[in-house]
Amino acid sequence: MERTFIAIKPDGVQRGLIAEIISRFERKGFKLVAIKIVVPSKGFAQKHYYDLKERPFFNGLCNFLSSGPAVAMVWEGEGVIKYGRKLIGATDPQKSEPGTIRGDLAVVVGRNIIHGSDGPETAKDEINLWLKPEELTSYSNNAEKWIYGVN
Ligand code: GTP
Ligand code: MG
Repeated sequence: MERTFIAIKPDGVQRGLIAEIISRFERKGFKLVAIKIVVPSKGFAQKHYYDLKERPFFNGLCNFLSSGPAVAMVWEGEGVIKYGRKLIGATDPQKSEPGTIRGDLAVVVGRNIIHGSDGPETAKDEINLWLKPEELTSYSNNAEKWIYGVN
């Protein structure tokens, strides 16, 4: 089953939004298969956002991601990579639709509270970067047959 990497950034943690964010993914029907709280180092943040290294906000972004604890999670479900991004909303909270996480809970692009992998390759890379293999679980639960309609 498809997996994606989701992180609650330090602003989301400080603002007490951990449960709110987890709840939105959980209620949708996605399954939490890994979770931990970590303070990323600056070097780690630079690795995570490597693709943005030429952007003018790169340094500020990496300082911000490494400024306090973040919650690293892996969520599993059919279409979770793409739909997870939908639940999260547009990068700039000024443009995110109401009803999305960023639309409902954030105001500016530099403090948009959550990260989500943007495709299958990045999902794989980010899961490997943030989590050790033994931190990932694999399990089935009783809700699945009601979520997917299979026995
Ligand atoms: P992530 O899920 O965090 O990767 O966001 P995204 O995929 O919606 O956007 P992108 O990967 O393009 O940018 C990564 C992060 O950089 C964003 O979430 C923002 O926090 C930050 N960012 C992007 N554009 C800007 C910008 O124009 N100014 C500032 N200050 N930050 C930006
Ligand atoms: Mg991104």
